[in-house]
Amino acid sequence: MKRRTVGELAGMKGRQKIAMITAYDYTMAVLCERAGIDALLVGDSAGMVVMGHENTVPVTMDQMCFFTESVARARREALVISDMPFMSYQADSSQAVSNAGRLVRAGADAVKLEGAAAGAVSAIAGVGIPVVGHLGVLPQTAHLGGGYSAKGTDSESARALVEEAKMLQEAGAFAVTLEMVGRGAAAAVTRALRIPTVGIGSGPDCDGQVLVLQDMLGMYDRIRPRFVKRYAELGGEISGAVERYAGEVRSGRFPSVEHWTE
Ligand code: KIV
Repeated sequence: MKRRTVGELAGMKGRQKIAMITAYDYTMAVLCERAGIDALLVGDSAGMVVMGHENTVPVTMDQMCFFTESVARARREALVISDMPFMSYQADSSQAVSNAGRLVRAGADAVKLEGAAAGAVSAIAGVGIPVVGHLGVLPQTAHLGGGYSAKGTDSESARALVEEAKMLQEAGAFAVTLEMVGRGAAAAVTRALRIPTVGIGSGPDCDGQVLVLQDMLGMYDRIRPRFVKRYAELGGEISGAVERYAGEVRSGRFPSVEHWTE
């Protein structure tokens, strides 16, 4: 068993597509590791799929450290990347660096932050903490006016995205996630960068793909983005199993003799 490095992940560009998935707890992270995933993203999407908030804004640094610690205990080979939550890196660079440090101490190999935040990326990368950028739809500010519609769908906004991505690369990011970026713009960004792009709803030309685990396993129905492919329907399976269990408890069929000690 050899732990994947940031350099190895970045070196996959042009050679092999990067398979990334979100994880927030030990059990699921173990299962994803067994599946041979390249990178586990401790996303602030935890705010929605784990904590039940409407968006990612309420997520705190303490909570991200908790999720990161849980995932890091499961880690064997995959790179663990943790999201920096809303307002943990925007106000000033020293705050960004100390919060990135907290996530590394919790077990992250790298951190990810949203937007064209070149100053924060450069400050964090400057102290040796690997950083992933995130462009396109920015969930932390989408409800404040950024919007949830696809980005880079006209030539002017596509050009702007390419420039922002290059800026993040020059600031020291080792990868960039592209959320809901039009296919043409995502391809242009991918071509323009030396570092890999990892898309979510951004088409097939990115260097890798990431999905939210609960979405692709069919466990989270509050929002069903078009870009999510459901590889399983575990929501129904889980409710069905719990329903059978509750029925057997009520009828006295569980526990039966093999489940107790005389
Ligand atoms: O928080 C998250 O899960 C993410 C992905 C959508 C890329 O940032």
